[in-house]
Amino acid sequence: MSNSKNSRRDFLKKTALLSAGITILPRHVISSPGKKAPSDKLNIVGIGIGGKGFVNLRAMATENIVGLCDVDWKYADRCFKEFSNAKRYWDWRKMFDELGGSFDGVMIATADHTHAAIAATALTLGKHVYCQKPLTHSVYESRLLTKLAAKHKVATQMGNQGNSGDGVRQLCEWIWNNEIGEIREVHAWTDRPIWPQGISRPAKVTPIPKTLNWDLFIGPAPMRPYNEIYTPWNWRGWWDFGTGAFGDMACHVLDPVYRALKLGYPEKVRGSSTTINTESAPHAETVEFSFPARENLPRLAMPPVKVHWYDGGLLPNLSDLLPEGENLMADGLGGCLFIGSKDSLLCGCGGYDSRLLSGRVPDVNPYLRRITGGDVFYPDGPHEQDWIRACKESPGNRIEPTSNFAYSGPFNEMVMLGVLAIRLQGLNKALKWDGENMRFTNISETDELKIMISDDFKVIDGHPNFDKQFATFNALASADEYIKHTCRAGWSLPAIP
Ligand SMILES: NC(=O)c1ccc[n+]([C@@H]2O[C@H](COP(=O)([O-])OP(=O)(O)OC[C@H]3O[C@@H](n4cnc5c(N)ncnc54)[C@H](O)[C@@H]3O)[C@@H](O)[C@H]2O)c1
Repeated sequence: MSNSKNSRRDFLKKTALLSAGITILPRHVISSPGKKAPSDKLNIVGIGIGGKGFVNLRAMATENIVGLCDVDWKYADRCFKEFSNAKRYWDWRKMFDELGGSFDGVMIATADHTHAAIAATALTLGKHVYCQKPLTHSVYESRLLTKLAAKHKVATQMGNQGNSGDGVRQLCEWIWNNEIGEIREVHAWTDRPIWPQGISRPAKVTPIPKTLNWDLFIGPAPMRPYNEIYTPWNWRGWWDFGTGAFGDMACHVLDPVYRALKLGYPEKVRGSSTTINTESAPHAETVEFSFPARENLPRLAMPPVKVHWYDGGLLPNLSDLLPEGENLMADGLGGCLFIGSKDSLLCGCGGYDSRLLSGRVPDVNPYLRRITGGDVFYPDGPHEQDWIRACKESPGNRIEPTSNFAYSGPFNEMVMLGVLAIRLQGLNKALKWDGENMRFTNISETDELKIMISDDFKVIDGHPNFDKQFATFNALASADEYIKHTCRAGWSLPAIP
């Protein structure tokens, strides 16, 4: 009796599917060895596709690219042409409304200030997310994405592609095997920025090109008049849209440091730089992070450690340690130096080309999972493909990509905190950080910040004239705003779950 009921139910189900035009075929009928079944492919949409996003999508072209969104259709044109079957959009919210039921994952490579709103909405819809670095534009946004990703159990990956490389894996295996001893000091650097920084807001207002939707580019940031200096690419240097050289490069350069030393929240942070203004990041910056002791590993103690950051061409002056003539910018991106109690380890950006300063080559068997193609310096492909693999696995059995948001969210908080230290340097003290509660504990309600708003120099009547203008801000209110930005009217973020 129950059998006949079941077979009738099965029949009705099959009839309904057939009348809806859906045919169920056994997998072997539609896939052959070496060829993917169409049903095995993900449907992916891309947002911010004119620059790095185009590169990322090409590395995901094993899947179906079903929707493309950009606010600048001139810049996006080559990507539109390459993925000509994808539906085109200006506004990602409209794309989510229209295609929400038919895509599995989203690739986000917009300017930094819009990552969080897009990624948070996608996570809330239960979509897998590949989001460029820096993951977000503030500490709060990083915490939000970390928690949302955990809640919705989707596959996530921040786009710091070196993280899928063999270099950082080998570096961790060496350090965790106690090859250089306990580490209490690390130095990390990049020669960026290679875009305008340290400048005031342009006074000139230029007409908005017809191919650009300026309102959508501004998104949750405060509105300002259009000028071609902001987008594409140069938005990086402007505080409202980017995070300067530190935010841009630290997700690559500090990844081996955060990962190998299992850093977590710093206790204190202090920044200094060339002159800071209210509009754009300074030309050159240094940051000092102080981390407490972490849980010891089987072969390595984890004492308190200081991490020093340098950018804009500044480099550590460690003449007692560094070999004469050592080019710290040999790979053109940056690098870091771990100073251990037994030896020191120098590596390029993302942990590639690790070597001990003693010249000894550690003999440690590789045991961390390697990703195909990860032996090449900074390739695009392995990182994206590892995310795609994870999207196809069920949450219970998934091997998470290594820059998934449970890792990259807290790491990105460290990076955003470095940006805060630079912006709050006028307080002239190490800022004590309560990571759990995302607040500084030693800024009082009356502390003030004096920041330059304009810098003019003219020779008038044969004499030099300096005209620097400053504004004074309440430091606590500024810190709160930098930790969690206020969204422009019409934009919002979900609450942290
Ligand atoms: N991993 C890497 O090696 C790497 C390299 C470069 C850039 N990036 C990151 O990728 C992101 C993009 O950087 P880029 O160099 O490609 O910048 P870009 O300005 O060259 O490109 C950004 C694209 O996003 C579009 N865009 C901006 N706001 C948008 C919005 N709200 N909706 C839809 N489209 C929008 C722009 O029009 C443009 O096409 C940044 O987060 C950056 O840090 C990573």
